[in-house]
Amino acid sequence: MKQHIFKQVDELINALAKTIQSAAQEAVSARGQFNFVLAGGNSPRRIYKLLSSDAHKNNIDWSNTWFFFGDERFVPVNDRQLNSLMAKEALFDPLKIAPSHIFTVDTNRSPSGAARHYSESIAAHFHQKPVHFDFVLLGLGDDAHTASLFPFTSVLKATEPTVKAVFLKEKDIYRITMTAPLINQARHIAFMVFGKNKAEAVAHVLNDTLDLPQQYPAQLIRPTSGKAHWFLDEQAASLL
Ligand code: 6PG
Repeated sequence: MKQHIFKQVDELINALAKTIQSAAQEAVSARGQFNFVLAGGNSPRRIYKLLSSDAHKNNIDWSNTWFFFGDERFVPVNDRQLNSLMAKEALFDPLKIAPSHIFTVDTNRSPSGAARHYSESIAAHFHQKPVHFDFVLLGLGDDAHTASLFPFTSVLKATEPTVKAVFLKEKDIYRITMTAPLINQARHIAFMVFGKNKAEAVAHVLNDTLDLPQQYPAQLIRPTSGKAHWFLDEQAASLL
């Protein structure tokens, strides 16, 4: 797990942008497409805005890029909580990405139906071959969850590389999430974590000798053959 630690968040997102860009260039030249899984929450908004900025937007071949979501909140279409809405505003609209290149979760279905449909759409895009995303961007919650792999939830035990619906009792909401095995098949996995409130979670995931994935789910994220990167600011890395 390569750790990149930065004083300022601006330095972090510039370095992360360069890593994404080189993964994209390698993917498009080797396989003709860049399959990019986006993270949700608030942190990634800044990296999406940077990637779609005039200074950076020409560094990736967006016409050969396909977008997916590591997880999604199960809320109605156009609900401000949707990760896909945040990405639409910060990335897809500024870059004029064609809807056919964006795989969003269909929350008009039932939770399990949405998970199944999302998994089937991904499988079809990969022509029913094993799914190896080129780049999976992940955030980290202060409870060490990532995507919607929350502590002590059933989805942590999933052994299949697929997409599951999970009900979060304390938030009274369903989430749709890629399982750890599906994320782990990626060529590059990058965590983007900043802020003091994440320091304990980062230390539990990166430092703990004891494996407690039920309690610290991001411990499940270990690429089977790809590379894992942690992009941290000094505050989030302060307990390492
Ligand atoms: C989500 C995310 C989630 C997020 C963490 C960190 O849908 O909320 O996928 O896993 O990455 O909760 O969120 P922040 O970046 O907002 O702290």
